Amino acid sequence: MDLPRYDDRLCPDPCAGPCAGCADRIVCRCLEVTEGVIAEAITELGLRTVKEVRRATGAGDGCTCCHKHIRALLEAHAPAAGVAAGIS
Ligand code: FES
Repeated sequence: MDLPRYDDRLCPDPCAGPCAGCADRIVCRCLEVTEGVIAEAITELGLRTVKEVRRATGAGDGCTCCHKHIRALLEAHAPAAGVAAGIS
């Protein structure tokens, strides 16, 4: 899977995948959902809110501390019409 870059930061948590859009990086540690799974769900299912990402992937259903990162992924990958980022 070829993920678009969503920022230029260096990966603080190196893994086997390509960084800056690292598909293998865990975004939601509670549910162990990766960046790749979330990005693919956003693009392929047309998700626009954290709530939709939660329903589709399970990410964010625990402590909720990953919601900020999920919002960033929505801003990077969601359809151009915008993101209802405040809804979780
Ligand atoms: S890290 Fe995602 S719900 Fe806790």
